[in-house]
Amino acid sequence: MIKKAILPVAGLGTRFLPASKSIPKEMVTVVDRPAIEYVVKEAVAAGIEQIILVTHSSKASIENYFDRNFELETSLEHKKKFDLLKEISEILPAHVSVISVRQPQPLGLGHAVLCAKSVVGDDDFAVLLPDVLVKENTAENDLARMIRRFGEAKAAQIMVEAVPEDLVDQYGIVDVASSPNEGESIAMQGIVEKPAVGAAPSNLSVVGRYILPAKIMQLLEKTPKGAGNEIQLTDAIALLQQAEAVEAYRMKGQTFDCGSKLGYLKAVLHYGVSHPVLGEDFKTMIRGLEL
Ligand code: G1P
Repeated sequence: MIKKAILPVAGLGTRFLPASKSIPKEMVTVVDRPAIEYVVKEAVAAGIEQIILVTHSSKASIENYFDRNFELETSLEHKKKFDLLKEISEILPAHVSVISVRQPQPLGLGHAVLCAKSVVGDDDFAVLLPDVLVKENTAENDLARMIRRFGEAKAAQIMVEAVPEDLVDQYGIVDVASSPNEGESIAMQGIVEKPAVGAAPSNLSVVGRYILPAKIMQLLEKTPKGAGNEIQLTDAIALLQQAEAVEAYRMKGQTFDCGSKLGYLKAVLHYGVSHPVLGEDFKTMIRGLEL
C-alpha cells in the first residue's frame, strides 16, 4: 500500500505576488484554513501516513502549522477555549507524520521529487502538487481510487482532466488511445510537458496527483533538463512508460488552481458555500451582492 506522499512546496509563488512576498503561497487561507491543509487532508483521506514536504528556507510556517504549538495550546487551555484547542491540536490524526527535506536549488519539479529519495527509500509513493485543490463529490476520493488501481494494475497512475484545447501549453498532456470515463484509468502511450497549442496528443492534462513506483527516482537521476530548462517529472514518467505500463486516471472531482489568483477566488467561493458552519450565511451574502 501507498503510505508516503511527497508535496513539493519549495516554489516561490511568483504567480501569487504580492500575497506570497512574505508568506508561502501554500499558507494563504481558503475560507478558514491554509490551502495546504486541504491537500494534506486529501492525502490522509486516501490512506497516506507520512507527508514529505520538499521545502525552502522561507517556508518554515508550513512546518509550524503541522507541528504542535505548545504556548498557544496552554493559553487556550487556561482560557477554557476547548473547541479551539481541539481544532488546532487535531489538524492531523496522530498516526500521520509530517517531515521535511530541502530543495536547495529551484531546478524543477522532477528535481524536487528527487530531493525526497532517501526518505522514500524502496517504497512506492504519491506526489501531490499543492497549488491544485481537488474538491470531491464522492465519499472515496480520487487519490484513494488511484492507489487502489495502482495495487491492482501494478501500473503508475497519473491523474488527468480535460482542459480547453487552447490551454494545453500550460500542463503536462497525456497521449491515450481514447479518453477514459471519469473514475477510470487507461494505458498511457506517452506524456509531454507543456506542448504547443495544436501539437498536443490530447486535451487530457496532468492535474498534479501521481502514484509512482520507487524506481522513478533512478529515472529522475538521469532525466535531462526539459521544458523551461528544468528537470521535469513528466519526462521521467515518459521514461518509465517506455519500460512499463503507466496509466492515466481520469478524475471525478473538481480542481481549483490556487497558484493563480482567479483560481484561488473560485476556490474560496466553492469551499465557502459548502463550509459546514459558514456556508449558508456566505450564500446569503453572495446573493446580496450588488454586481
Ligand atoms: C506542473 C507539472 C505539469 C502539470 C501541472 C499541474 O507544472 O509539470 O505537468 O500539468 O504542474 O498543475 P507547473 O504548473 O508547476 O508549471
